[in-house]
Amino acid sequence: MAKAAESFVCQSCGAAYGKWQGRCDACGEWNTILAEAPKTTVPKGLSAGKGKAINFAALSTQPDTVVRTVSGIEEFDRVLGGGLVPGSAILIGGDPGIGKSTILLQAVAQLARRGTTALYVSGEEAVAQIGLRAQRLGLADAPVMLAAANSLRDILAGIDTAMAQAKGGPAVIVIDSIQTIFADNIESAPGTVNQVRACAHELVRVAKRSNAAVFLVGHVTKDGQIAGPRVVEHMVDTVLYFEGERGHQFRILRAVKNRFGATDEIGVFSMTDGGLSEVTNPSALFLGRSEAGKGEPVAGSAIFAGMEGTRPLLVEIQALVAPSPLATPRRTVVGWDTGRLAMVLAVLDARCGLRYSGCDVYLNVAGGLRVVEPAADLAVAAALLSALADTPAPERTVFFGEISLAGEVRPVSQSESRLKEAAKLGFEHAVMPAAAKTKVKGIGTSELMRLNELVELFPAARAAAKRAAAGRDRSSWTGEDE
Ligand code: TYD
Ligand code: MG
Repeated sequence: MAKAAESFVCQSCGAAYGKWQGRCDACGEWNTILAEAPKTTVPKGLSAGKGKAINFAALSTQPDTVVRTVSGIEEFDRVLGGGLVPGSAILIGGDPGIGKSTILLQAVAQLARRGTTALYVSGEEAVAQIGLRAQRLGLADAPVMLAAANSLRDILAGIDTAMAQAKGGPAVIVIDSIQTIFADNIESAPGTVNQVRACAHELVRVAKRSNAAVFLVGHVTKDGQIAGPRVVEHMVDTVLYFEGERGHQFRILRAVKNRFGATDEIGVFSMTDGGLSEVTNPSALFLGRSEAGKGEPVAGSAIFAGMEGTRPLLVEIQALVAPSPLATPRRTVVGWDTGRLAMVLAVLDARCGLRYSGCDVYLNVAGGLRVVEPAADLAVAAALLSALADTPAPERTVFFGEISLAGEVRPVSQSESRLKEAAKLGFEHAVMPAAAKTKVKGIGTSELMRLNELVELFPAARAAAKRAAAGRDRSSWTGEDE
């Protein structure tokens, strides 16, 4: 009999390969691919008439809404699409130490206070340790049931017992973390792809059969020996990532997949001594010094009127443009896409005649937020022009709009929400796509067809670009630049 081929599996994302390689093509991580024992194959010859017949239920008899369980922590509930759906499995991923255990402890404590059966299983901390944390967070009175365990078999038995004792009604179970749980019928070590997959699979089944909402915590790891949360993404109903920058106190809970709600929804929190507190007006957090009416206006800054899911969010985009001594000038981006910056620079060059090729360009989204919307193009362009011209952008002005390769300013969705948020925070003017055709009381608009019209707002930019290019030519003649 032919020997089944060994397979090689990326421990970070679960991608499988026929032979070993150093870097995973799927997720880009290095040294994460390990050999795995051959899989047992699916038995052949399943034919009709041999199984226990499944039941089909008429679509028309199904309830048209799900009753969700809310924690009362609005930022948390909103990211879930308006609360927990019974029987759903939710993955919450994030870097170690970002606050996953903290947010879940706070959430289940609130849920428990409101009458939800709450079980918290920790594979990382002792029960007393979690108790101390709860005390510090002022949650010690909440009727949460704690357990410290690593064996999946024991955990499943414990959940069954606890659920049988519960009075019915909504329930929530937290497994913190999936990488510390092991199934004793699988040979590989806890945290490997095989273990994480098998444990997650069983725990998702617990959600379906007990009708409890099950949270699985997954640490994002750089260590190839430990499986990352991506391995379980496809098994669960909802995938949340908890993000934040070191050195910044805010945290963002972001839905990247949700069978029961919108993705791209975010919840904003700030990490304090008393745990995570909700930030109900996040725009204020991501506006730097140049927030409407405050501080001196500075060159190289533009306010982007963005959307995060259903909610508008104003963010300051900062750019620094400086003559470069390097043959290949630097392009450094924090909080935005490097490729997108290259595109905006190329369009400024090709369509507006503004050359940044002699300059280092640094781009930063204030507050450590990560912006993904193409609608930020126009604000990025404004920050780049303002930096190059060394002139502040027009005061109390927000920018939004997508830029096409042809140099057009293209319309984006939800202009009205963006304008309303800007007006609410004291901005008086918006530079936006002409096609938007939206008016909001209290805010004037400049409606652009082409990127060239934005360049005209920064008259000094052209001369500055010429000087930078000339300076570069001169220095390359005299060899100054090495
Ligand atoms: P934690 O929830 O344990 O992170 P994770 O489960 O994602 O690994 O959070 C740990 C960090 O949060 C730790 O560095 C301390 C900080 N923290 C606070 O600042 N305030 C608090 O009230 C708590 C509980 C934690
Ligand atoms: Mg933790």
